[in-house]
Amino acid sequence: MAPVELAKRAELSLSHVYQLLRGDRPDPRGTTLRKVATALGLNEAQLTSGDTEPTDVGPPLDRATFFALMSAFPSGVTIVTTVDEDGRPRGLTCTATCSLSAEPPLLLVCLDNRSGTLAAVRSSRRFAVNYLLAGRGELSNRFATPGLDRWKDVAWRTTPHGVPVLHADSLAFVACRLHSELTAGDHTVVVGRVEGGHAPAPGSQPLIYFRRAYATLRA
Ligand SMILES: Cc1cc2nc3c(=O)[nH]c(=O)nc-3n(C[C@H](O)[C@H](O)[C@H](O)COP(=O)(O)O)c2cc1C
Repeated sequence: MAPVELAKRAELSLSHVYQLLRGDRPDPRGTTLRKVATALGLNEAQLTSGDTEPTDVGPPLDRATFFALMSAFPSGVTIVTTVDEDGRPRGLTCTATCSLSAEPPLLLVCLDNRSGTLAAVRSSRRFAVNYLLAGRGELSNRFATPGLDRWKDVAWRTTPHGVPVLHADSLAFVACRLHSELTAGDHTVVVGRVEGGHAPAPGSQPLIYFRRAYATLRA
């Protein structure tokens, strides 16, 4: 934390904070220690012992528990599509997506930092989100499997926005231009400005993903 921020949070003067950091105040008062500890999210014992693991952070969460927790939220299944530098279609299965803003119209998709599709989105600066129809679990698995020709025998076409879409297997698709991105941990939040698309027809049914299995909505 920067000294300015620490001074603000601890309600101490900046010069006081610099004196503490330089060691010019070797024996600070108890109230000062408490203020600094609170500002840093530590208790006084941790501050003086140098054990600086913040008190509000519990033991690290294991991956299996994280995925089990995340599986509680049912979602639709999308295939995010784009073109690479050679003009070839690229795409991956993605459930981490949602609407973001109406003015301007924005949506977001969260893509693994190592994703080849993410690299292609960065170069083309365009992508589409294809919302899969019920019963397309195999197609979803195919677009999540490395090393396959994912586009073999799949119906697709290029929209006037310049993105490939899987029109025959989707109940809707949205064409986007890359708006911005934010890397957080091992994924990147990719924000797209929605330029157009195809809305779902009445009665069309989506593919659902819940507790790591595909499902459909009951009428
Ligand atoms: C149901 C399901 C949902 C997935 N959701 C995401 C997701 O939201 N973001 C992501 O980056 N990968 C997700 N994946 C994994 C990618 O589809 C997979 O890693 C893919 O091989 C990446 O391809 P690429 O490197 O060619 O882009 C999901 C996979 C499945 C089966």
